[in-house]
Amino acid sequence: MAILRTNDKQVEVGDNSSIIDAAKELDVPFGCHSGLCGTCRIEVLEGMENLSEKTPEENDLGCEGKERQACQCQIKNGIVTIQC
Ligand code: FES
Repeated sequence: MAILRTNDKQVEVGDNSSIIDAAKELDVPFGCHSGLCGTCRIEVLEGMENLSEKTPEENDLGCEGKERQACQCQIKNGIVTIQC
């Protein structure tokens, strides 16, 4: 079991699962769910190494550094702290 959290709330996620549902519980806004619109941009404060690699869609949207698109991320395990 992995954990996706913000500074004031956390949600359990199965290992190697999409973080979409958990991110919605943490109030991350979503649009296309396909890596096209950029709505679900998050900043990863801790645990970037616990997320899947950036997708080509994220690179096309200009995700740099700690930025990710939540609809494109899977959590491998462990804890990931985000800010939205
Ligand atoms: S919801 Fe559109 S890029 Fe993630």
